Amino acid sequence: MGHVLVVGGGIAGLWTAVRAADAGHRVELVTKADLAEGSTRYAQGGIAAALFPDDSVERHLRDTLEAGAGLGDPAAVRVLCDEGPARVRDLIRFGVEFDRGESGLDRGLEAAHSRARIVHAGGDATGAAIEQALVATVRRRAVSIVERAMLVDLLVERGRVTGAAILHADGTVAEHRADAVVLATGGSGCLYRHTTNPAVATGDGVAAAWRAGAAVADLEFTQFHPTALAAPGTPLISEAVRGEGAVLLDARGIRFMPAVDARAELAPRDVVARASWRRMAEQGGSAVLLDATALGGAFLARRFPGLDRVTRDAGFDWSRKPIPVIPAAHYAMGGIITDLDGRSSLPGLLAVGECARTGVHGANRLASNSLLEAAVFADRAARALAGGAAAEDATRQAGAADSSDPADAARRSAPAAIRAEAPTVDRAALQQLMWTRAGLERDAAGLAEASARLAAWRAPDPVDRASAEDRNLLDLARLTVDAALARRESVGAHFRSDAPAGASTAPELEAA
Ligand code: SIN
Repeated sequence: MGHVLVVGGGIAGLWTAVRAADAGHRVELVTKADLAEGSTRYAQGGIAAALFPDDSVERHLRDTLEAGAGLGDPAAVRVLCDEGPARVRDLIRFGVEFDRGESGLDRGLEAAHSRARIVHAGGDATGAAIEQALVATVRRRAVSIVERAMLVDLLVERGRVTGAAILHADGTVAEHRADAVVLATGGSGCLYRHTTNPAVATGDGVAAAWRAGAAVADLEFTQFHPTALAAPGTPLISEAVRGEGAVLLDARGIRFMPAVDARAELAPRDVVARASWRRMAEQGGSAVLLDATALGGAFLARRFPGLDRVTRDAGFDWSRKPIPVIPAAHYAMGGIITDLDGRSSLPGLLAVGECARTGVHGANRLASNSLLEAAVFADRAARALAGGAAAEDATRQAGAADSSDPADAARRSAPAAIRAEAPTVDRAALQQLMWTRAGLERDAAGLAEASARLAAWRAPDPVDRASAEDRNLLDLARLTVDAALARRESVGAHFRSDAPAGASTAPELEAA
């Protein structure tokens, strides 16, 4: 049994901490904000799993691979879909009260699912219910919790991660040593001008892992959610609303999705988001409209109490009039490459949840698979820790870089040509650049321009939270633009208007 440092307080981090503590490890859990603040609590739609008699693991697996546009890893997807039902039952044991109807668990439909299989809690408050149950569970364990403390960098010695440098609320940076570090730092929606993510989503884990020498992949695949409310903060309007029958209209009130895809508003997220984006461009940039009026005020208030409040607080009555929505950055399919047990390419480092690239999402995540992925792979990572995941792995160690090597650290934190007098990165300008040049539609010229502008900025020294975040955003923006330039095809969420479509069908599945 060893000392495990878990970084991140969403479902993936909390789950890992609980399971690792139960396995007898000494666990320290570091969270950037208050324990309950992270993307998990904002998840609305729910969690997908093959739990119902008219559904099957095979169907869920096929839907996941199809949404991933042929780039999902079938072995990882099989693990996800096979183990998903057991993890949902674990959540119930942790105290999550999923909504129930007369015949048992209630279930919703979301885009690209061939069955209604999304279980939810509090109508549209699934993430909050999960977060609350897991926070209560972790507090009952002997886990040392450090809040308002941010990961700055990983400590690497002789090719092995031995802990992390953590910036505390009082401004001091302390070295936290551990036998294994598990990153569960979530996504990086703050790379873009418009995002459904909370302000903490600045890709800290992926950037730090990359600087430390870990392999990362698929950063060109950012999922843009089609329906963020066109209001300050662009709050998410769950896909479950379209699953219940709401439709998208253009500024003239004409429904546009049926002409784009036979699945209309329930086509995969990338298809709907791009169609909305194009319609917005055609109508001079104004938002498209989500029409939920046919669902009726009473149903909307009962099924989506949180969204009913959010829309009314923003000045809209969605039971009477369509509401304005825009696409917004929502989820990072890429991240730190892991095996099926959360192990990264660096010994001593694991990653779970959105910051990990397990391979389950391919080029486009299936709706409501994110909470599931976090639970399934956090559980496996915790089990791997019990089996000695932090132990030396000769293969991985051979390929690992040592961030204590100043030359390598320099290469990974700034382009060689950067001048000391270069201006430090301007976050708002970076977000606007990524939105316009590396957003829903990209091309070589726009990406090259983005690359040049990103190269001209200098990362600030990480002396406080804002500067540490800016450094991470700059590193990730550069990596994202490089990855988008390198992939000269359109596939899933990565759409190159100057390149032909690439893989678009799911790979052959092994017979069940
Ligand atoms: C939603 O409720 O639309 C978001 C769910 C997800 O991201 O899978």
